Amino acid sequence: MPRSLLSLETLHADDLLAILETARTMKSERGRHREQPLRGQSWGLLFSKSSTRTRVSFEVAIREFGGESLFLSAQDLQLGRGEPIRDTARVLGRMLHGLVVRTYAQSDLEELAKLSGLPVINALTDDEHPCQILADLFTIGELLGTWRGKRVCYLGDGSCNVPVSWIWAAAKLGFELVIGAPGNYRPPERVLLKLGPQPNISFESDPRAAVRGADVLYTDVWVSMGKEAESADRIAELRPYQVNDELLALAKPGAIVLHCLPAYRGQEITHEVLEAHANAIFTQAENRLHVQKAVLDYCVR
Ligand code: CP
Ligand code: NVA
Repeated sequence: MPRSLLSLETLHADDLLAILETARTMKSERGRHREQPLRGQSWGLLFSKSSTRTRVSFEVAIREFGGESLFLSAQDLQLGRGEPIRDTARVLGRMLHGLVVRTYAQSDLEELAKLSGLPVINALTDDEHPCQILADLFTIGELLGTWRGKRVCYLGDGSCNVPVSWIWAAAKLGFELVIGAPGNYRPPERVLLKLGPQPNISFESDPRAAVRGADVLYTDVWVSMGKEAESADRIAELRPYQVNDELLALAKPGAIVLHCLPAYRGQEITHEVLEAHANAIFTQAENRLHVQKAVLDYCVR
């Protein structure tokens, strides 16, 4: 079986660390990679949701690795007219060499991986966003020297894919993670049960307490893709968790602010904080490219 990256939950800690190490080489050797691990290969990017960073970083990474990418918008495939995933998977499996998938249900991603027989990479599902958090860890390593012993505070919607991937990363690597979110925006029960008590992971509904002493203040949109019908409630309920100067003042002096982007200024982050930390945030976005290469390399090696 080819190697897939379906979640951080299922990624072994050693593999996670190896991906971060490879990403360092990918960044320092951009434009002069010694190997072209995807030479002669065609990879499909099957996306059911919008994307800027993930799409572009994977397309560029595949090209710089000697391969070709096909952007397959789910709406434009017969999938959008009701062709089952299991048939789509078997067709794509006979033509392509790998798949990068952005979709809703994690089970759809798993079905694609199983029935296509291809290496499949999770480019975001409702459950997880593993490539994002790999890039975030890489960025923290660059900006703070290491993520070891650091305190990461995620503020906002604690129930969506990004904090869940953060939780699995913290469970595997042992750094301190605080999820600052209202009680009804905590990660899904399934995740908490599977996780069990972890001394380095905590949940805090008081945003001021959550931020205190943080080395990294991290946020994500309040209205994830697919949750648009809940927009008004979310914007009202998550307001106290906005990353602003007042909360940032409670973090450790010199704390960095990260945002997976896209950002909605005035909601999860203020214009002022985003612009003051733009260098870190756009380095984080750039690092998606270097880390995607390391993920592709992990899948085909
Ligand atoms: N952060 C992120 O995944 O961005 P896109 O939705 O633009 O890919
Ligand atoms: N939680 C967000 C991440 C966007 C990159 C979403 O799922 O829309």
